[in-house]
Amino acid sequence: MPGQCVIGLQWGDEAKGKLVDLLTEGKDLVVRYQGGANAGHTVVIGDDVYKLHHIPSGIINEGVLNLISPGVVINPPTILKEIEMLAERGIDVAARMKISQRAHVVMPWHVLEDKMWNELVSGQDNIGTTLRGIGPCYADKIGRSFAVRMGDLIQPDFAERVARIVAVKTKILSAASGSAPELDADAIVEEFSAYAKKLAPMITDTNQIVLDAVDADKNILFEGAQGSLLDIDHGTFPFVTSSNSSGLGISTGSGVPGNWLSKIIGVTKSYATRVGGGPFPTEQDNDTGQHIRDLGNEYGTTTGRPRRCGWWDAVAARYTARLGGVTSIALTMLDVLSELEEIQVCVAYELNGERITHFPGQVNDLRNVKPIYETIPGWQTDVTGARSLDDLPTKSLQFARKIETLIGRPIEFISVGPDRAQTIHIPENESLENYLKAKSV
Ligand code: GDP
Ligand code: IMO
Ligand code: MG
Repeated sequence: MPGQCVIGLQWGDEAKGKLVDLLTEGKDLVVRYQGGANAGHTVVIGDDVYKLHHIPSGIINEGVLNLISPGVVINPPTILKEIEMLAERGIDVAARMKISQRAHVVMPWHVLEDKMWNELVSGQDNIGTTLRGIGPCYADKIGRSFAVRMGDLIQPDFAERVARIVAVKTKILSAASGSAPELDADAIVEEFSAYAKKLAPMITDTNQIVLDAVDADKNILFEGAQGSLLDIDHGTFPFVTSSNSSGLGISTGSGVPGNWLSKIIGVTKSYATRVGGGPFPTEQDNDTGQHIRDLGNEYGTTTGRPRRCGWWDAVAARYTARLGGVTSIALTMLDVLSELEEIQVCVAYELNGERITHFPGQVNDLRNVKPIYETIPGWQTDVTGARSLDDLPTKSLQFARKIETLIGRPIEFISVGPDRAQTIHIPENESLENYLKAKSV
């Protein structure tokens, strides 16, 4: 069975971690291919809650190898903390995970730069990053001369490299801030060499591992981070992250050829959220938004920031599903809408007096669109206990059917709560459409 992938269709936090954990059974490899510690993926199994930033969500299952591939940017102290957290819960990460020697390292100057660039841009132009050094690290990767990769940490010229980079970064940061940054090359070398020593048994050439797995027709699951609308090339630029988070980054990030991917599951919430700056046409900065935030516990997994909440947006989801080559949908957080009498779904935008159904590529256009809504009746029944389509109220199924029709891809999973068990699977030989037809509704 060739490669499968889980990607977010919105602005992140769609519950990708939950889906990946669920789909890990029967896989040989689970692969993270972009992003870094800006991600926060949650897996809930009974009373156990795992919050993962770096480590693939396949780590909880035994017998699966987890890879962090070249397209990821790694913050060594963060990943070590996660390894420790998992060790305390009986998971030996070193036995289940490999890290690419090609993956770039988020160095202390990247975190300082992230903070400074955020401070220098205010108001509606502020991206509101996670301040994890992600953008500056990817910028240095593309710039090449001042980059550090995981493999470099254990090279004999590491100290020399750090000294050279610190000299330049000190000049840049001093000029930008007016005071010298706290960057001590010797201390950084000592600190990062210690991290490297701990991580060394895991650092390897993951390209060989995935390409061998492809040759052997092994089952690989790719875990996307962030959401498609945060894609550096195809998202709501400049209010995006610095990697290809749309699913188009799977190949470049992991080293697996694109024609080997057969199944791409696009995850979407039953509403929309966004953290940080940038346009959000269906945002509900009002009681409805607060209701969704309260019921969905919409606070960032990584930064704890309250997430901006709004109605589900078909224009955006159809765009990202097409962009990512999505083959089926996982609809999550259905339970969060259960108390609402009526639910709005954005089916088109109005831009300069014209109805449009394409997603604008220019951020100012996106700021100016007015959502056109269709009202869907709510079901006002608790669905958290539902384990099959039969357990779901018809109105909630009609809502789900509306979403799948608007996206143009079949729903394969419906999630009604955070727990692994709170998931309904619609097998390939069945469909929501046929189910509703058989029910004559
Ligand atoms: P990810 O970044 O896409 O992995 O998503 P996050 O973990 O950042 O955010 C999703 C949050 O919603 C987590 O707290 C999950 O435990 C929780 N969650 C996942 N699925 C559901 C669901 O169907 N209903 C509710 N109420 N919460 C869910
Ligand atoms: P997961 O994988 C939600 C957002 C930040 C900010 C923008 C740029 O958990 O879905 P960055 O630090 O990447 O330079 O910030 O992207 N962002 C996320 N929002 N979920 C995420 O990851 C995110 N990763 C980054 O809030 O608006
Ligand atoms: Mg998240």
